[in-house]
Amino acid sequence: MSPKNGSAERGSAEPSGLYRLLRPALYALPAETAHNLAMGALQAAQAAGAEELLEGLYAPEAEPSLSVEAFGHRFAHPLGLAAGFDKDAVAFEALLASGFSFVEVGTVTAHPQRGNPRPRLFRLPGDRALINRMGFNNGGAEAAARRLSRRKRARGVLGVNIGKSKTTPEADAASDYAFSAGQVGPHADYLVVNVSSPNTPGLRNLQSVEKLEPILRQVRGAADRKRLTPVPLLVKIAPDLADEDVDAVAQLATHLKLAGIVATNTTIKREPLGTPRDRIDAIGAGGLSGAPLKTRSLEVLRRLRAAVPPLTLIAVGGIETADDARQRLEAGANLLQAYTAYVYQGPTFAKRLIDGLSER
Ligand code: FNR
Repeated sequence: MSPKNGSAERGSAEPSGLYRLLRPALYALPAETAHNLAMGALQAAQAAGAEELLEGLYAPEAEPSLSVEAFGHRFAHPLGLAAGFDKDAVAFEALLASGFSFVEVGTVTAHPQRGNPRPRLFRLPGDRALINRMGFNNGGAEAAARRLSRRKRARGVLGVNIGKSKTTPEADAASDYAFSAGQVGPHADYLVVNVSSPNTPGLRNLQSVEKLEPILRQVRGAADRKRLTPVPLLVKIAPDLADEDVDAVAQLATHLKLAGIVATNTTIKREPLGTPRDRIDAIGAGGLSGAPLKTRSLEVLRRLRAAVPPLTLIAVGGIETADDARQRLEAGANLLQAYTAYVYQGPTFAKRLIDGLSER
């Protein structure tokens, strides 16, 4: 392959190699079934202790200049796996070996919950996007904490994302989050308070400063009770917040001395999309992720960086290529995350993106 083609390949959002051949078979399955198959393979690899094999296949050789120091941790390069992929913390060792410098597991909730009825995950391949209304299906914070406590700590940085249980009324949200924080806090390199999923009714109301502040204070207290050093605490926000509300969260984060902000979660908007309107309407409610989220996520990032110069910003939403990554870093992101592009590009995604960044 000529260097020119090599660069084009690395800069592309298309899948490469074996995954290009396998993808049609996966697409013949419902999206959630395909996801569960992939998770099963990762879990099996982890159980077999095959992390070094995964690393040999999928880990980039990141330039030392790409390493990042943030909230007391060193990241080999800026790209991590976003929350929602490994909701139950069952395959994070394998994912950390698959080219991501950090993995955010969860969202976990205080109570185990089944999530919404299926189907609840939909592909929009023409838009390189997904719509999901999973609804925080997970086995609960206690079970996650047990698995996290068995971590080998061989590589990478591990974040844990916590959310509100569906059955907990809004008035009790702070203690619900605090319970989860107490469970998983001792095992997390950083903790994210998720108040931005569109799939738990009322959750996004918790982004208002009056509601968010007591949650963050209680979470901090509960998470640090069993730790020698405080856990870096971040908040994850929605792309659908009005600009003034983005600024208000930024100010609160500074006031409470949070470690940072994760921007953004999925959107409830349905634009810009090429997928026919009747298909979108038939899918129904849920959060849209992937390429259509790129512009708004970048806007929110720029706004946050202008508002909070010293905080760590994790940019997420529509990051597909080395060019996207570069653009977010130039806009002030310290770290990056992706989910949807990993689904579309397959296991070589992180390696291709980081190799592309290293080249420049
Ligand atoms: C998500 N996302 C998500 N976020 C979160 O904080 N907790 C969660 O449980 C989930 N679950 C989840 C499931 C599925 C199927 C998808 C596609 C996404 C949101 C995710 O972490 C990320 O913020 C968005 O998907 C935007 O990034 P991408 O996908 O455009 O790279």
